[in-house]
Amino acid sequence: MSSILTKVKDSRSYKNESDYILDVKDLKKHFPIKAGFLQKTVGSVKAVDGLTFNVKKGETIGIVGESGCGKSTAGRTLIRLYEPTGGDIIFKGRNISKMSEGELRRTIRKDIQMVFQDPYASLNPRKTLKSILSEPMITHNLYGLKERSEKIQDLLDKVGFNPLFINRYPHEFSGGQRQRIGIARALALNPDLIIADEPVSALDVSIQAQIINLMEDLQAELGLTYVFISHDLSVVRHISDRVGVMYLGKIMEFAGKKDLYEDPLHPYTQALMSAVPVPKRKGVQARERIILKGDLPSPANPPRGCVFHTRCPAATDICSQVVPEYKEIKHDHFVACHLY
Ligand SMILES: Nc1ncnc2c1ncn2[C@@H]1O[C@H](COP(=O)(O)OP(=O)(O)OP(=O)(O)O)[C@@H](O)[C@H]1O
Ligand SMILES: [Mg+2]
Repeated sequence: MSSILTKVKDSRSYKNESDYILDVKDLKKHFPIKAGFLQKTVGSVKAVDGLTFNVKKGETIGIVGESGCGKSTAGRTLIRLYEPTGGDIIFKGRNISKMSEGELRRTIRKDIQMVFQDPYASLNPRKTLKSILSEPMITHNLYGLKERSEKIQDLLDKVGFNPLFINRYPHEFSGGQRQRIGIARALALNPDLIIADEPVSALDVSIQAQIINLMEDLQAELGLTYVFISHDLSVVRHISDRVGVMYLGKIMEFAGKKDLYEDPLHPYTQALMSAVPVPKRKGVQARERIILKGDLPSPANPPRGCVFHTRCPAATDICSQVVPEYKEIKHDHFVACHLY
């Protein structure tokens, strides 16, 4: 799945703050737990509980972590499909975390789009490809009839579709083709940032590679920025520039891909990485598999101190008492762990 894009990406440099398209500070999303006849709030699910990271223009940030760690909630909160419980989302210099829906629509709704895991569930089965792709443009009152139709042809071309498919319905396409439609629909409004939540997880491995390559080509062509959410460490390694590792609603470690995969610092990242088979090479030691004890605690009742301490092989007394600070250990390498 290699591409020429890697070279282009490595030669980029970022000099000032304005190169950041997204700056997320202590983002939280808690879902209330209601109980009883009066539906009183008795607690909350801390699905996202303090995310801090930034995204540079044109790069791909990968977000990885086990099922239930809050990846999808994070993606949906970033795009303001969910109301944040706390924290700030600075997108292109504007704080969008508290904007009203009207203001979002007038300003940035077009600029951030989402691609979902299951394109079939997110495509209306009664609509043709043409009307699926027109819909976002109509909603945002963009283009006249003729331009719209040209734009649709262009979108189909971009995702490698035959223009004759335009009157077909979602069920007439394969899984990979449907994800191409999902991507084309996300591109219809010329966004800057795409949040992709497990976009290839439902596809066969061979199809996964095609979709990843398509996303990389589109990124190079259109200068797109991606936040790529996945539980699959290999896919994230392939596509990302920098990667954040989530556990129970928090980022445990955030670093450049090479740093993170070759020298993971957080015990949780080390455990995750140890589960990925490493190809046998001369001079490269096979990693010992680290099996984590216990189950993932509930985000409704996360452990005190470091949320990972109940399963951490390196935990000491302080870990059960004090929340570790999320700090920059090396240049652009952040870790939340008392070991550092
Ligand atoms: N709308 C909701 N209301 C209440 N709790 C929710 C809601 N959405 C998610 N959760 C809870 O928040 C936590 C995080 O869920 P989320 O779907 O974000 O995780 P995920 O990392 O995307 O998992 P997966 O890998 O399975 O997709 C889970 O405990 C989930 O049950
Ligand atoms: Mg999810």
